[in-house]
Amino acid sequence: MANERTLSIIKPDAVAKNVIGEIYSRFEKAGLKIVASKMMHLTQEQAEGFYAEHKERPFFNDLVAFMTSGPVVVQALEGEGAILKNRELMGATNPKEAEAGTIRADFASSIDANAVHGSDSAASAEREVAYFFNDNEICPRG
Ligand code: TYD
Ligand code: MG
Repeated sequence: MANERTLSIIKPDAVAKNVIGEIYSRFEKAGLKIVASKMMHLTQEQAEGFYAEHKERPFFNDLVAFMTSGPVVVQALEGEGAILKNRELMGATNPKEAEAGTIRADFASSIDANAVHGSDSAASAEREVAYFFNDNEICPRG
């Protein structure tokens, strides 16, 4: 499997629950390296642009409102098969359907407040990492 980068966001509900470190620990235990990281409070424009693929969906306005409701922590993760590995660590979008032991099963409260975002393909990972990080903010680790 290829060495990949993926974009992860610890969403406002998980930041409010004080589980940033627990989620980081899951990335690291799975062999994913955090190669860029920042805490930020997304503006409406940033959230709308990030989720542009969903703009016609009925949940779009609620999603943007939720993602701008408090600080998030955005990170780029690097490792073998990082995109799929992170999706496996996250669990299903709806925490009720997420497998036991996944981040969403353990920390998410509902389908809209579901603790984490993770890129779902190589194309989205490339777009999403570049959406939040300049090249000089990404620090590959050996
Ligand atoms: P999606 O990309 O389908 O899920 P994932 O985050 O697992 O890639 O949807 C993006 C976000 O939109 C999702 O994390 C939470 C929100 N959402 C809802 O609020 N209701 C829904 O029915 C869906 C499908 C998503
Ligand atoms: Mg998605």
